[in-house]
Amino acid sequence: MVNISNRIRTAAKYIQQGKLVAFPTETVYGLGANALNPYAVTKIFKLKERPSFDPLIIHIADINDLEKLVLKTDKIVYNLVDKFWPGPLTLVLPKSNIVPDIVTSGLPTVGIRMPANKIALKLISESKCPIAAPSANKFGGISPTTVMHVKKQLPDIDYIIDGGKTTVGIESTIIKLSEKGFKILRSGIITQEEIETILPFDKYGKNEEFAAPGMLKSHYSPKKKMLIADKDIQMNLDKRKAGLISFTGELENGYRKVIKVSTQNDMREYAVNLFEAMHSFEDDKEIEIILAEPIEEKDIGMAIMDRLRKAEFNWRR
Ligand code: TXA
Ligand code: MG
Repeated sequence: MVNISNRIRTAAKYIQQGKLVAFPTETVYGLGANALNPYAVTKIFKLKERPSFDPLIIHIADINDLEKLVLKTDKIVYNLVDKFWPGPLTLVLPKSNIVPDIVTSGLPTVGIRMPANKIALKLISESKCPIAAPSANKFGGISPTTVMHVKKQLPDIDYIIDGGKTTVGIESTIIKLSEKGFKILRSGIITQEEIETILPFDKYGKNEEFAAPGMLKSHYSPKKKMLIADKDIQMNLDKRKAGLISFTGELENGYRKVIKVSTQNDMREYAVNLFEAMHSFEDDKEIEIILAEPIEEKDIGMAIMDRLRKAEFNWRR
């Protein structure tokens, strides 16, 4: 086994050469390239088959890099950063000139975060550049929480660092600052309430303005039918061909297979295990349809339900 420091060093060389590296973050695996090299970033869009209107998040390891990538910072930004970084919060801020347009899909803003994963942080520092990275899956597919999931969808990556299963399991919360506070562009395990300890949630204004480009109604979608297990669907279903992603244990009767995502009704565990359960049923020849137990839409439940709705979108008639 090549040790992890050597792998990170090699991966950093790949990044410097404008190549692509898949690496673990605390949320999901990222497909990284030198964020300041437009040719390298182009390769991400190509490999993922991602439309160019869907902007990338830039990952940094040193807070000084934030200053270089954005037009200005203020006290609020630093309060957010002090509380949540390194961690699964992405800030969308006005970008500086050094950020290539391809990274932001031509937008005047850029999404930035400092991941809470030692391998990711070391890779960024050793690459000596910020790293642009979307989740390491084909566009629209299920996000990867293990290296196996990455290889399944993207077998042709230049280099992969294996850091085991990711510890958060769903993508970062994305927020954008407004005049009145903040808007949430994508929910994650950092909740509205937690961010409200720093600044007010902006419930005013047009939400469309703050809808993130690339945030489509369909996403995280398995290649076989997936539905949220509501009452109607439960009633009309042949459970002998169905796999259930179970949370409370209450719906488990009659299913061909059950994957329990939590042992003690903990929504965090649902987040950690959701994508892995989806991948597992996607690969399972005995399963024709995937059902997922819905949960209450509050706190982390918001983020889970967001992923489930997008996953079922194309499959709901
Ligand atoms: O946890 C995460 O955020 C993971 C890991 C790898 O860090 N990354 C991730 O990236 O989920 P991706 O590309 O799968 O999703 C990023 C989303 C884009 O789809 C886009 O909607 C939003 O972030 N985004 C990026 N830059 C933005 C900007 N300037 N304005 C609005 N939305 C932006
Ligand atoms: Mg993604």
